[in-house]
Amino acid sequence: MSLLSEGYPFIHQELECFAATGKVFLEIGCGVGQYKKTIVSKGAQYIGVDVTDKDYGAQKRNVDIVADAANLSAIEDASIDVVFMVAVFYLLPAQDISLREFFRILKPGGSVLFFDYTEKTINRMIPNHYEMLLRDRSHYQLYANINVNNFIGVYRKLRFAGFRKINLLVNKNMYRPSLARVIFFLAYRVLPITWFAKLNDRYGLWSVISASKF
Ligand SMILES: C[S@@+](CC[C@H](N)C(=O)[O-])C[C@H]1O[C@@H](n2cnc3c(N)ncnc32)[C@H](O)[C@@H]1O
Repeated sequence: MSLLSEGYPFIHQELECFAATGKVFLEIGCGVGQYKKTIVSKGAQYIGVDVTDKDYGAQKRNVDIVADAANLSAIEDASIDVVFMVAVFYLLPAQDISLREFFRILKPGGSVLFFDYTEKTINRMIPNHYEMLLRDRSHYQLYANINVNNFIGVYRKLRFAGFRKINLLVNKNMYRPSLARVIFFLAYRVLPITWFAKLNDRYGLWSVISASKF
């Protein structure tokens, strides 16, 4: 079993906090759908959306609706409680249109959750990603999009799409116990969120942004 097929434990935990009987979750770019079982086990409903249902490397994709995040016309207005995505937002070519679609399909009081790697994690996973960017224009296109670790950029886009209560979430289970973790969490409590976001991108492993529709 790998993190790819099982999902990240802290993401399961965050989703559990939002899941409750009768709630409807929609995952954008669901891939293999690792988080479905946690959501369903809480009595909530899960809908996996992906732009393709072809196999994902050696893994099978588990997709309920094949659709681009920028066109969710198969989903009714105000019918979803939580829209979430993991390592997807930076891939969306039409981020602003997609955000408006998320806003449209959410019920009033509903939430959108973005989980993504920080710059530190991307550097670890793909040490030569800047060289790739310079060599290959398709990578340039990817990095031209706003990543979740650009908190201010995502904040502005979310406000423009109508979202409010925009927040950066940090879950202590993202990190192993250490003195650095204690200091990091202290900074999360005392610093303004925009300052902390910069620190998080540099030293944190994940960026997690939540926002609400009112
Ligand atoms: C990096 S993978 C992440 C998959 C899964 N969320 C996970 O954590 O394993 C990105 C996923 O987003 C999907 N995707 C890319 N562009 C998309 C779009 N415009 N609309 C919907 N899904 C998209 C891809 O097909 C892929 O399954």
